[in-house]
Amino acid sequence: MKKLTDIISDKLKAAFAAAGYDENYGIAGVSNRPDLCEYQCNGAMAAAKKYKKAPIAIANEVIEKLDAAGVFDAAAVAPGFININLDRNYLTEYIAKMDTDPKMGAEPAEKPLSIVVDYGGANVAKPLHVGHLRPAVIGESIKRMFRFMGHKVVGDAHLGDWGLQIGLIIAWLEEKRPELPYFDPGFTGEYPKEAPFTAAELEVIYPAASKYSKENAEFLAKAQSNVFELQNGNRGYFALWQHIMNTSVPDIKRVYGRLNVDFDVWKTESDARYYIPDMIEKMKNDGFAHIDNGALVVDVKEETDTKEMPPVMLLKSNGATLYDTTDLATIVERMKLFAPDHIVYVVDKRQDLYFERVFRAAHKTGIVKPETRLTFIGNGTMNGADGKPFKTRDGGVMRLEMLIDEINGKVYEKVMSNRETSEEEARAIASKVGLAALKYGDLSNQATKDYIFDVDRFTSFEGNTGPYILYTMVRIKSILAKAKDESISIPDCFPARTRAEHEESEINLMLSCARFNDMVEHAAEEMAPHKVCQFMYQLADGFNTFYHENKILTESDTAKRNEWLALIKVVLKLLEICTGLLGIEAPDRM
Ligand code: ARG
Repeated sequence: MKKLTDIISDKLKAAFAAAGYDENYGIAGVSNRPDLCEYQCNGAMAAAKKYKKAPIAIANEVIEKLDAAGVFDAAAVAPGFININLDRNYLTEYIAKMDTDPKMGAEPAEKPLSIVVDYGGANVAKPLHVGHLRPAVIGESIKRMFRFMGHKVVGDAHLGDWGLQIGLIIAWLEEKRPELPYFDPGFTGEYPKEAPFTAAELEVIYPAASKYSKENAEFLAKAQSNVFELQNGNRGYFALWQHIMNTSVPDIKRVYGRLNVDFDVWKTESDARYYIPDMIEKMKNDGFAHIDNGALVVDVKEETDTKEMPPVMLLKSNGATLYDTTDLATIVERMKLFAPDHIVYVVDKRQDLYFERVFRAAHKTGIVKPETRLTFIGNGTMNGADGKPFKTRDGGVMRLEMLIDEINGKVYEKVMSNRETSEEEARAIASKVGLAALKYGDLSNQATKDYIFDVDRFTSFEGNTGPYILYTMVRIKSILAKAKDESISIPDCFPARTRAEHEESEINLMLSCARFNDMVEHAAEEMAPHKVCQFMYQLADGFNTFYHENKILTESDTAKRNEWLALIKVVLKLLEICTGLLGIEAPDRM
């Protein structure tokens, strides 16, 4: 469906043109003074400068030429605003039409694109920690928004499995258990099927090895050379790496599952290894790659740079590949597998410069076409109450699962104290509401900004929180269920051409609903889940005001009552789409 802002703007443009002004002044937006009007156009003010005329005179001339009967009323107000209110029948018809569309009036993208979203970024053999929360939930939401808008999207976890952490684990095992066949160069048999460690053991090996490498340079050097050996076909190391993968990846999947985060492909850094030799060969032949201090690099500095711009490193002096190498080769791989028009990376904002260099190298060396978009969404940090990166009470890095448990525990207590619920049901409710508290708490902040993680605020059933949104949905569900119990037949769809008179809170609620297609298009285009949250909050608030001012089920005018029921069903559908876009879900009760 055409967006209301476009419908209004088109009529205004025609009027500006008819009055002899540039039509581009006829752009309308949602009013920033909702107490005065619903939409507004400030074009006369801008036109006044160009045409050297009083803005109010221009606004009046435009209104004179306006042909908007049955759509909206417009009034010129000093110094030159055009205030706009929608025709009530037009508004109700608009909502009626939305309600017949599964996408509630959202227009699919004119030109569907192929898009890869690279997010999550967990590292194999290391437990997920709080720093992994934001890239996971933001990326998941961006993927869902793109998909909703009709794009062809592939979400990729791009697990880190080819770096130093693997070398460290191998070095540690070699030191503790040199008798294992993986370390016997003469061993030609088949390696054991069973890993020489359990998942629990693996979890302690990495931190121990990492700590040790900081105190022992020789150990670190061994770990680094292990990475090289692994990458260059050491059989025993490769077998160990497979054990590490088989032990760790299912656990990573399980934790992402708890966040309702799922990837279409669970590719890893090492998957790109097959593309590296050809890629490097080509970069050398094309004159892009050259040796610098023993390393193979590609320069990405540009004349206009005002900051330091180190070259991209393809090979270390010992011949090992790096993070840069696998990311570039992964782009090669993605072009081959998915031919994306756009690749979006959701990663901690501290990797900003890194991605700028990688993108420059990809464009410069022709891995992607000039028009292929590469976007870095650098997420801000989740901070504790002290404004510093979130830590456990004793100052350590908090595991993601602990954070999930903490928030679920808090919600569970609330659910149990609110009413009598079986423990089992309370747990099920708490896991849905807890997830909403966590994800909405995160997503309602602009992705690039830091925010303070506040369990009490996030889990509150009031205010701009996930639980408040879900609570609103549960309230609507229960009204609709009650109506059904009382054998009230709710219209299937919102009825067009409704009553002459509407309550103010009802109009406000309809106006919020009618902005959905506008909102979702912009949120997807700008990759901004916080805009979805803003919309949800406004809608939930609008519903609750309406609910408190009107007795829906006991309304004696049955036509009015039925229409209200149809309207709150529209609100519920919109909130359901939006929760879906964030990857959360409302329970039936709470
Ligand atoms: N595993 C990386 C890290 O922990 C993040 C991966 C982000 N994605 C990428 N294509 N580099 O820093």
